[in-house]
Amino acid sequence: MSKFQPFVMERMMSKWENQVDYNLSESGVHPATVRDLVPDPAQVDQLLSTEFVYSQANGIPELRERIAALYPGATPENVLVTVGCIEANFISLQTLLEPGDEIAVMAPNYLQVWGAAQNLGMVVRTFDLASEQGWALDVDSLARAVTDRTKLVAVCNPNNPTGHIMSSGEMDAVVAAADRVGAWLLADEVYSGAERLTDEETPSFWGRYDKLFANNSVSKAYGLPGLRVGWIVGPPAEVDKAWARHEYTTISVATLSNQLAAIALSPEVRPKLLQRTRDYIRRGYPIFEEWLRSHGDLLSIVPPGAAAIAFPRYALDVNSTTFVERLIKEKNALVAPGDHFNVDQHLRISFGLPADYLRGGLERIHQLLTDIAD
Ligand SMILES: Cc1ncc(COP(=O)(O)O)c(C=O)c1O
Repeated sequence: MSKFQPFVMERMMSKWENQVDYNLSESGVHPATVRDLVPDPAQVDQLLSTEFVYSQANGIPELRERIAALYPGATPENVLVTVGCIEANFISLQTLLEPGDEIAVMAPNYLQVWGAAQNLGMVVRTFDLASEQGWALDVDSLARAVTDRTKLVAVCNPNNPTGHIMSSGEMDAVVAAADRVGAWLLADEVYSGAERLTDEETPSFWGRYDKLFANNSVSKAYGLPGLRVGWIVGPPAEVDKAWARHEYTTISVATLSNQLAAIALSPEVRPKLLQRTRDYIRRGYPIFEEWLRSHGDLLSIVPPGAAAIAFPRYALDVNSTTFVERLIKEKNALVAPGDHFNVDQHLRISFGLPADYLRGGLERIHQLLTDIAD
């Protein structure tokens, strides 16, 4: 068996995110509360009568219906409810691929698919979003990465860590590359709905290509990471095969989480949650931007189109992991180092946070930048 590839970003976050004074390492906004979801005492009363049964293993019907309604032409048969998008991505790989298969993964990226695929014995190639072109898709690198042996192409749109939203032309190029070799497309779309500059939700790949798993969750755009609810939307036969993997990993999502996620995706509550997320993003970014500008040439950025994260480059001769280790130890604050996306000299910084907390965390990063620059 080949060497285990740890998920280095999640390793660092699990250890420190609840210990530091300022956690600016999350990619979602400040989380919503149970009260935000169920303000009405009658609804609370109903929830209190919930029996802790094993809920329907592929997701309760009401939730699968609400998820299907977000994808034109989809029915509950197209939907599997999972424990977050992280389980959705993991079992997608197990379902669609065999050890030894080759996959092409977008980079930079949340490195779950990249690392898990290696641990499952797959051969991983990457294609780029190019920083010098405002993180636009490098179509030449896509053409090189997708070969006759490619069984799956994996994208994250909007992208973590850059916040890049693919244009329709870029989406077409990805579909064409997968189609050219008959590969599956795995689209991680967790930041759709968390746009900074527009109220138009980033379109899904759903409807553009048949061999597709469109994965998502309530963690980012809905501000509900602790519910641990995600999903796969795909062709019914393959979704059923993914369900068979889900029976090995988690059986079912928690009973209350199924119910609360159904409330979150209801036509009454969903728009409010999306607006709440965009409000955090739109209030936080100007604070972050002013802070960034105050550093002159030391920091530069391609402004993110979506997600509550910025990915600035710093002009200092220090490795990003070393920087963050010092940030934890000396300043009691946490961000994600560029190394965790295989892009050194960058930091991923959350800004979808209450203003005072955000300012406090940015001040700690400023102190360390100044200590190193002096
Ligand atoms: C792109 C991406 N996919 C999936 C996940 C996992 O999310 P979830 O909380 O839905 O499991 C994350 C978390 O940061 C992410 O950034």
